[in-house]
Amino acid sequence: MGQVFDAILKRRSIRKYKNQEVPQDKIKKVLEAANWAPSNGNSQPWRFIVTKGQYVNKVCNVFYNWAKDYIPNAPYIPEEKVPGMLKYAENFGGAPMHIIVTHEIFEDEIKTKEALMAASAAIQNLCLAAWEEGLGTVWIGGPIIYSEETREILQLTENEEIVGIIPIGYPDEDPVPLERKDLDQKVEWLGF
Ligand SMILES: Cc1cc2nc3c(=O)[nH]c(=O)nc-3n(C[C@H](O)[C@H](O)[C@H](O)COP(=O)(O)O)c2cc1C
Repeated sequence: MGQVFDAILKRRSIRKYKNQEVPQDKIKKVLEAANWAPSNGNSQPWRFIVTKGQYVNKVCNVFYNWAKDYIPNAPYIPEEKVPGMLKYAENFGGAPMHIIVTHEIFEDEIKTKEALMAASAAIQNLCLAAWEEGLGTVWIGGPIIYSEETREILQLTENEEIVGIIPIGYPDEDPVPLERKDLDQKVEWLGF
């Protein structure tokens, strides 16, 4: 199996991290991989905000304040899973750093959509490169990425939107892979 395929299959979302700093060099390497993602017209319409310390804590608080009401009342979350999920929601499993990936907003709706697509490709590069560096990641989406409070903490400009908050650190778990639906349900072969 090739190295890329190996990374694609073995990368997992990590929701428990060791209390251990990640050297900045490693983060730079992972960002380099993200920055090599494809983009429309090579526009590279993304920005990476790397946070630790009080910035990580503040963003985690925004998430927890939302999750503490949401998780216990979400009908699809089994009751026995609630305590574990609330613990995770306190600090995304203790990741010491976050990488926030934003995409640029344009007047042209298609350009904005393509900026979102390109920044998503950058996130996937980032997560795969992190895996190769022995680091865990998880892509956080949902209401927190649209919250005004989050935007203020991260000092975002008006012409950008968050695509994902990516906690990053040394994994302290080895999750069982979640199954994927059978490819046959997803693929249409036309003209064969
Ligand atoms: C756009 C997007 C949003 C996601 N949002 C969250 C999230 O808010 N919280 C979380 O714990 N995981 C989130 N995930 C991670 C998915 O839950 C995870 O990728 C999926 O369950 C498959 O597991 P795996 O990544 O270990 O293969 C998100 C993933 C994507 C691509």
